[in-house]
Amino acid sequence: RTVTTSFPAGFLWGGATAANQVEGAYAEGGKGLSIQDVLPRGIQTPPTEAPTPDNLKLEAVDFYHRYAEDIALFAEMGFKVFRLSIAWSRIFPNGDDDAPNEEGLAFYDRVLDELERHGIEPLVTISHYETPLHLARAYGGWTNRDLIGFYERYCRTLFERYGHRVRYWLTFNEINSVLHEPFLSGGIPTPKDQLSEQDLYQAIHHELVASARATRLARELAPGAQVGCMILAMPTYPLTPDPADVVAAMQAEHANYAFGDIHCRGEYPGYLLRYFREHGIELDVTDQDREDLRHTVDFVSFSYYMSLCETADPEKKVAGLGNIMGGVPNPTLEASEWGWQIDPQGLRVVLNDYWERWQKPLFIVENGLGAVDQLVEVDGTPTVVDDYRIAYLDDHLVQVGEALADGVDLLGYTTWGCIDLVSASTAQMSKRYGFIYVDRNDDGTGSLERYRKKSFHWYRQVIATNGAMF
Ligand code: BG6
Repeated sequence: RTVTTSFPAGFLWGGATAANQVEGAYAEGGKGLSIQDVLPRGIQTPPTEAPTPDNLKLEAVDFYHRYAEDIALFAEMGFKVFRLSIAWSRIFPNGDDDAPNEEGLAFYDRVLDELERHGIEPLVTISHYETPLHLARAYGGWTNRDLIGFYERYCRTLFERYGHRVRYWLTFNEINSVLHEPFLSGGIPTPKDQLSEQDLYQAIHHELVASARATRLARELAPGAQVGCMILAMPTYPLTPDPADVVAAMQAEHANYAFGDIHCRGEYPGYLLRYFREHGIELDVTDQDREDLRHTVDFVSFSYYMSLCETADPEKKVAGLGNIMGGVPNPTLEASEWGWQIDPQGLRVVLNDYWERWQKPLFIVENGLGAVDQLVEVDGTPTVVDDYRIAYLDDHLVQVGEALADGVDLLGYTTWGCIDLVSASTAQMSKRYGFIYVDRNDDGTGSLERYRKKSFHWYRQVIATNGAMF
């Protein structure tokens, strides 16, 4: 280790989840169905007609009933912040309802009360891969302009109810992932190979306008609030020093940068307009849209798990990794059990890159290792000796320290899946990310008991020393 950097005072250490991956109770408290309730295999198979019993998300890890116990465990680790999402279909069961569902709103009141009791700051994702199913089926998801209005009504409800007690808001989880997973990310039911780029970019435009309107609304209804965009960050390296590969990597990055550029600068970048011109894409953009887009974000948040390579040589374009962004594997890196290539230095690259590009405070809101854990007894207590997870997080935090030394402005760090949850891409329990083990198996069996892993005690130390160990 070459650098010892202090993390800034007030640095927001914590963990992250999403409603559909932890709450369960999919039909309780007046909740309507979301797209997740018909995705029993994540992104691996098409949605089912109706919820099926093999869908682990229907019960997930029962956070809906156990949130107090879970938040107490987060507090024991010393969390300063907890990232959660609000399930849109708990608040507006169909998405297009005139009035919100009070029972759903009351549930999040209780969760926020509990966080407040422990002095943990909430970081709320407004839409995390859980579009109300009715909006997908009856409207075509975000391809339909009406969704801007429904989303705006939902945001208004959230800001009016929670605006005085939630400071940090994220508008759409991994907004750029819609390029690759239109149903998961944008509630768009048309299969990807039948979806035209015209319709895809129109849907993206609607989401970007909705995000900007949410920012405008937050300024009006929740003046202390900070609104951020959320980007799936995967730095793309040229596969070789061939300049053609460098350009291919640049263009792959542009596809993702565009989302941050629009959120931070309030207008479409030239390279994207060129892409539209050359691909016959003509967006329906109103004057009001242009005006809305000027409401730029306060900060930029992102998830980081891996990097990718890109090449201009079609023969070297082998199948991508086990993630949703495609790309070419990097021959220099090792991969996780799910084929996600581990690249701690890539996190430093992203932090520098985003900071230099947008000059907005950054927030790492997802990072972590999905791995198979073995529950064992140590001194009579069930636990998991997850040294591999500690090593992964440690290596990444060293690079965060390097980026801080480089001068990057970083608000906080929330590890993904601080408690074991159902994976998004594969809908498995066995792909575990947590500091807290949840006794539930891929076949749905298990007591749902919670156990502290070795990493739980490690993370408590990290937070207690404000990262002094890095
Ligand atoms: C991100 C998502 O893509 O990665 C999370 O925002 C997801 O919802 C996380 O869980 C890890 O992916 P997976 O497929 O391992 O759960």
